Amino acid sequence: MIRASRFCGTVLAPGDKSISHRALILAALARGRCELTNLAPGADVRSTAACLRSLGAQVQLDQSAATVTGRGLSGLKAPNGTLDCGNSGTTIRLLCGVVAGSGVGGVLDGDESLRRRPMKRVLDPLRLMGAEAEGSRNARGEETAPLWFQPGRRLVGKRHQLAIASAQVKSCLLLSGLWADGQTVVREPHLSRDHSERMLCAFGVPVQTLPDGGISIEGQGRELTPPENLHVPGDPSSAAFLIAAALMIQGQVEVRSVDVNPTRIGFLNVLRRMGAEIELTPEVESAGDPVASMAVRKSSNLKCADVLPAEIPAVVDELPILSVLATQAQGLSTIRGAAELRYKESDRIAQVARGLSAMGAVVRELDDGLEIHGPSRLRGARIDSMSDHRIAMSFAIAGLAADGETVIDGAEWADISFPGFFELLSQLSGGAVSVSRVERSPHARDK
Ligand code: S3P
Repeated sequence: MIRASRFCGTVLAPGDKSISHRALILAALARGRCELTNLAPGADVRSTAACLRSLGAQVQLDQSAATVTGRGLSGLKAPNGTLDCGNSGTTIRLLCGVVAGSGVGGVLDGDESLRRRPMKRVLDPLRLMGAEAEGSRNARGEETAPLWFQPGRRLVGKRHQLAIASAQVKSCLLLSGLWADGQTVVREPHLSRDHSERMLCAFGVPVQTLPDGGISIEGQGRELTPPENLHVPGDPSSAAFLIAAALMIQGQVEVRSVDVNPTRIGFLNVLRRMGAEIELTPEVESAGDPVASMAVRKSSNLKCADVLPAEIPAVVDELPILSVLATQAQGLSTIRGAAELRYKESDRIAQVARGLSAMGAVVRELDDGLEIHGPSRLRGARIDSMSDHRIAMSFAIAGLAADGETVIDGAEWADISFPGFFELLSQLSGGAVSVSRVERSPHARDK
């Protein structure tokens, strides 16, 4: 891509990835039929659908719509072969809760990137509840995929205090709690995205927030009742790239039908502190979440901002693109308390620091975050996505604001969450992006 002189248009955000995983999983655990629409189009959600089929649910997936027929909590069967979670951390961690809780057992695995991600965080609390589970060991002795779960174990509800806020770990434990004897409680240091809590309620399973902030589920085999239809709202994490591009290039963009659940839109709070003017127009709520259109209509002089540890869970996936934007803001922006970024699809702290430095930004890598001095004039560079969709997309946006040409190696990894991303950028930027060499990601091809 080359520097864009415009970035204008009105688009619909693709369906939210986090909500899509949960909608498919809960529909598969429920008894009866559920129609899902506007599912996230990427490869991760297809991995979840394929695993659920292997566990015995009927899942007919056609582009962004699915019909799921579940056979109830006791209707799951032992998977035929390894559950291939592809590149998806949400798939593997949430399904650990399902295979452990239901007692069907099995083996869960994924691609090279997923095999590098830490799994002790779900295995330990599940073992505390009575699961017999084991991971492989990496060179540092840490437990990673493939993961083995012994079938036939019955779980007992426990109180879990998480060291780090994580919606994936919380959701894994709440799901396992559906089958466990007694109460399962999860307490986090800061509230992470609450889609599982909201969606369990929508499927008729009460989830309570205790006075100490713990999330509690009383399982004991209570059946889930599927809603007839569930429409997934647009993904704020995908919308964030387009909003950031409009701010970087001084364009005008409107992204319609975006989920604006408060646990997901920390990036809007940060952008507003940076002086960005973003208009929100409420739309009809969807899947129990508030929905709005997000628009950038005028250019803003961006100033630096500090992203604080307490706000990390609500902005965790947007930190790479916020870092790119911080290169164009006046002053020193900091991100602290975000060490978790090192355990995503790639080490995002290292990749952001490396990529931005290559493009001429002034950036310092910290153990738990980044310091970015702005504004800098970015220059085009060759960036390796490191098989990480959010790195590929963040640096594509940086490339639209840089002098010269930027090449993203492994751009096809954008398909994990946002197929068609580069084509859309090309359209909105009036052709500043050449998509001729973009291939489909391996996972998109397989499923
Ligand atoms: C997700 C939770 C977050 C987020 C990921 C999706 C989810 O991960 O980064 O992209 O759907 O639950 P953590 O739970 O590891 O914070």
